[in-house]
Amino acid sequence: MRITVIGCGYLGTTHAAAMAELGHEVLGLEKDPAKRALLADGRVPFYEPGLGELLARHVASGQLRFSESYAEAAAFGEIHFLCVGTPQQAAGLGADLAQVDGAIEGLAPHLDRPTLVVGKSTVPVGTAQRLSETLTELAPGGAEVLLAWNPEFLREGYAVEDTVHPDRIVLGVTDPRAETLLRGFYGPMIDAGTPVVVTDYATAELVKVAANAFLATKISFINAMAEVCEATDADVLDLADAIGYDVRIGRRFLNAGIGFGGGCLPKDIRAFVHRAGELGVEDAMTFLRHVDDVNLRMRERVVQVAQAMIAGPTAAGGEASLVGSRIAVWGAAFKPDSDDVRDSPALSVAGQLHLRGAEVVVYDPQASGTAQSAFPTLTYADSAVEACHGADLVLHLTEWREFREIGPADLDVVVRRRQIFDGRNCLDLDAWRAAGWTARAVGRR
Ligand code: UDX
Repeated sequence: MRITVIGCGYLGTTHAAAMAELGHEVLGLEKDPAKRALLADGRVPFYEPGLGELLARHVASGQLRFSESYAEAAAFGEIHFLCVGTPQQAAGLGADLAQVDGAIEGLAPHLDRPTLVVGKSTVPVGTAQRLSETLTELAPGGAEVLLAWNPEFLREGYAVEDTVHPDRIVLGVTDPRAETLLRGFYGPMIDAGTPVVVTDYATAELVKVAANAFLATKISFINAMAEVCEATDADVLDLADAIGYDVRIGRRFLNAGIGFGGGCLPKDIRAFVHRAGELGVEDAMTFLRHVDDVNLRMRERVVQVAQAMIAGPTAAGGEASLVGSRIAVWGAAFKPDSDDVRDSPALSVAGQLHLRGAEVVVYDPQASGTAQSAFPTLTYADSAVEACHGADLVLHLTEWREFREIGPADLDVVVRRRQIFDGRNCLDLDAWRAAGWTARAVGRR
């Protein structure tokens, strides 16, 4: 089929390239000229394993092109996928829908024949209904222009795999023609056994935020348990393993650490709470405020632990000066296999330590560039070992594989004091301790 993808960020670029891979002809719409030029040249403007190769291949074959023209998109596409961002509002907790509204208002006046617009962006419940009314009003094709909501669940770092082999396909539709068209479009995935849930707009919108709210809750649950473990000399890794064997609970997303970040989980739970308030059901969602609080407290707690490891605990329980100390930070991205630093716990901790007077040297295998733009006052090293030169403390904050391959012997003569803190619970603490290091981690003895 001939499809368009409106908005070429993580979601849109991956969807465009993956759908070209499945044999469709794709036109990507991107309004940022610099991004568009890179994409048209077959280059991905961010780091995502496997995506560059896919994009380059389909740009070279001509199956995937990029444009900025809504008129061209309307003339080209049988289905238009809406993949623009819905960030947190600059002055509030709700979602900023300017890009979604802008895309519909840009596209609709050109839709003069029967066609299908498919929303994939994460939006507050109620948005799809409103957009379908706008489409009917603004599109010359009127009621022949259909809308469906088809949320996307891709994870950064696994974006291509998640798009080509999704866990499920959710279709929010009001017209059986939309369902038929999308079942045909996703035919190969459905034939391969991917479950399909066909539902209404509101449920489809809620599925996405409910999934992210549940994942965030799981992470904050285990992080709250980690705090209890620390107070009782218990071990959160053993606890997570033990409860994770219960298939009703499951072990995934029970990794205690410095908490969740990124462009989705934090802003989605805040937008959900905000929307619940508008709908008069805020009380039902109050727990998500606690999920957010626990998550942000993890960052604060790491700063306090770092402070205590360097200066010893203060009588007042915090705020010891870190002036004169040097701290190595391993990781800047919000998670490994990504260069995304949006709401990154690692950078947030690094920034707070810097503000308290420490010299903070950050190393990340992929995210140094994006981190430098966001936090230019920190120092950036070219390798994990270089970041540790003269360090009083090493903080492991994003669990890139290469950090696990570094042992105490690699750092013994590099650091000033042999101290390491594992904020992601995947280093071998016993090995570091056996080598004479002070090693601590979240929720562990
Ligand atoms: C998330 C959802 O997983 C995905 O389905 C949705 O489409 C977009 O949001 P993503 O933001 O790419 O994807 O990252 P994810 O893998 O969910 O991790 C989110 C954050 O939680 C990261 O900061 C990660 O480090 C943290 N995390 C994850 C933990 O702290 N502990 C865990 O056990 C798992």
